[in-house]
Formats: sequence, structure tokens, C-alpha cells
Amino acid sequence: MTMPDLFTPLKIGRLTLPNRIVMAPMTRNRAPETIANALMAEYYAQRASAGLIISEGSQISPTAVGYPATPGIHSPEQIAGWRLVTDAVHAKGGRIFLQLWHCGRISHPDLIAGAQPVSSSAVKPQTKVITWQGPKDAVTPHALSREEIATIVADYAQAAKNALAAGFDGVEIHAANGYLIDQFLRDGVNRRNDEYGGSVANRCRFLLQVTQAVVDAVGADRVGVRLSPWQPFNDMADSNPQALFCHAVEALNPFGLAYLHITEMGRENPGAAGPDFDPMEFRRRWKGLLITNAGYAKARAQAALASGLADAIAFGVPFIANPDLVERFRGNHPLNAADPRTFYTGGARGYLDYPTLNHGEDRADR
Ligand SMILES: Cc1cc2nc3c(=O)[nH]c(=O)nc-3n(C[C@H](O)[C@H](O)[C@H](O)COP(=O)(O)O)c2cc1C
Repeated sequence: MTMPDLFTPLKIGRLTLPNRIVMAPMTRNRAPETIANALMAEYYAQRASAGLIISEGSQISPTAVGYPATPGIHSPEQIAGWRLVTDAVHAKGGRIFLQLWHCGRISHPDLIAGAQPVSSSAVKPQTKVITWQGPKDAVTPHALSREEIATIVADYAQAAKNALAAGFDGVEIHAANGYLIDQFLRDGVNRRNDEYGGSVANRCRFLLQVTQAVVDAVGADRVGVRLSPWQPFNDMADSNPQALFCHAVEALNPFGLAYLHITEMGRENPGAAGPDFDPMEFRRRWKGLLITNAGYAKARAQAALASGLADAIAFGVPFIANPDLVERFRGNHPLNAADPRTFYTGGARGYLDYPTLNHGEDRADR
């Protein structure tokens, strides 16, 4: 049997990806009214040769917001805005999932009409949050009641239905990077003593309830989950991430999801978010398709596929700077460098203007 490589097709749920080069979800703050728009449609369409595009995080409700100018998926106008994006990607032959996002305590009253941000527990993140006026100190969040948790679970299900109504091929539940679901998972934040806190099983309960609701809403073959076991970003840590995330992965198995998406972010700084461990632990436990991510270039991605660590690789920053990343990998062409100064600034610059091999200033490699 030949080992799969980046150009071996892959069946994910109802889709057949023509390659295993996935575009990682990336917030770009180009939706000033929280509504996806023509600018975004062009950006995603430029990247439609990806095996699968995972959209930037998109708010499931008006109080899920954590940053200025990020899109939502809870109003008719937002559904119509995203329809521009999905139509443009599909017209170019691409496939796109929407990332469902609730930021929890990584928010600010300025962003959510004066409301208090929410979390598993009333633990203030030791970090700044970004508002329209610039970075501000985070505030102490309100610890969600059981009734409020049930409402948010229902919001996830409705947002998933909205994503399908907007033409997405599926959804990814954002349970990574210190946002609301992760704030339930890890005991650096979660201090609850009800059925949502304490034991590893209890801390996984919110994730599993959200997953069940989203699966019931749109079908397991249209649902992926993203986890970040090593990620210290957003003031996150856990006393035993290996036990926690291995339990989460085994508890997700019975759903028969389209995929599990692990980001290895944080592994470059081992121990920052808790004791380090081997990512192969997930491959051993997870019975479905596995996407991995963070810091991959072509050679290491091919090695990860060959070793069986993952079935596909998600690329973030390389896709910002190289709309034709797939073509560049295929031909071993050099990559454009990304400019981090324009990641979050809004507008077309640093968004739509990275050159492709055929139309750019970078023809010297030919
Ligand atoms: C500008 C930017 C925005 C990001 N926004 C998100 C996001 O909305 N959701 C998410 O899960 N990860 C987000 N990430 C993390 C990326 O998905 C990815 O995990 C990270 O960039 C590491 O992969 P890379 O080394 O291939 O870039 C973001 C990263 C960048 C650079």
C-alpha cells in the first residue's frame, strides 16, 4: 500500500477533498458590521483550491463576540452575507466549513452591548482584550448558570443550521485556543463544583452537549471539532492535559464526526499550558479522520501523513500569504512571506493582494 501524501484525495463526511491541504480557520477582522461581505468572498474564493477551507471563527450569538469586525452566523443578514462567500468558493470548485465560535471571557462589555462576558467560572483572564478603542484589561466574567448553558447549547445548534442555510458544507466547533468551550475543558479556568466542573468527565460535558446539539441539527458527517491541548494563549493551562484531552477524544468517538482537528500550537514552548505529551496519543485513540496543524511546511506535512499522525494538515499563515498554496506545494515553488501587520487591520491590503504564481511579481522561480 502506498502511503497517502498531500495530494491523495480524502473522503470527509459527504465530501471528497482533492488534496489534504486544509486552510486553517483564521480571524481577519474584515466584517465591520459582523456580516460577511464581497471582500471576504473574494479572499476565500482565491483560496478555493484548498482541499477544505475552514472559515474564521463566527459568533453564534450577539454575546459570543470577542473582537471587533468579526462575522456572526445568528441573523438573516449574516446568513445572506456568508452566502456570498460559499457561492464564490463553490463556483471555484472549493469546499468550506464554518467555524462556530463563542469567545466567553475573551470579550469585553464594549463588544457586547454592555453585557458582562461569560465563562465556566468567574476567573478573569490575565490578558488584554481587543476592543474598537484598542486593547483593554479583561473583566471578571459571569459564571454561567445551568439555564444559561442550555441556552448557549441551543444557540450552537441554531448557528449550525444557519451555516447550512448559508451554503456551508459543514461546521467546525471551535473548542480550542481559550474560548468558551476550552474555558470549560481546562481546570486553569473551570473551578465549578456542579456537573460541569471538577472531574475530567464533568469538564468535557459542555463540549459533548454542544457536539450532540450540533450533530442533531446538521448530521455528524457535517461536523468537525477543534481542540488545542498545548495552547497557553488566552491565559490557559491545565493540570493534566493528556488525561483531559485523551478523555475528550474518546468521548467524541461515538458521534462519528467528519473529523477531529488538533492544533499543536504551544508545543514550541513545552509545558507552558501544562505537562507536554506525544500527539500520537490522539491517533491511537481517535477512530475517525484526524487533521493536525501548526507550523507545518510541506516536508514536515508529508512526514506527518506518512507516519500516520494525521490524515490531513491544516495550514494557517501559509494560506494568508499564498492563495495558491496547493499549486506551490505541488510544484515545489517558493512561498510568499506573510505580513503580520495586516492580519487584523481590515481592508483589501494584506488580504486580497498576495501574488499567485501566474499573476504576480514572484515569477523569478520559474
Ligand atoms: C491571523 C490569524 C487568525 C487566527 N484565527 C483563528 C480562528 O478564528 N480560529 C481558530 O481556531 N484559530 C485561529 N488561528 C490559528 C490558526 O488556525 C492556526 O492554528 C495557526 O495559525 C497555526 O497554524 P500555522 O502555523 O499553519 O499558521 C488564527 C491564526 C492567525 C495567524
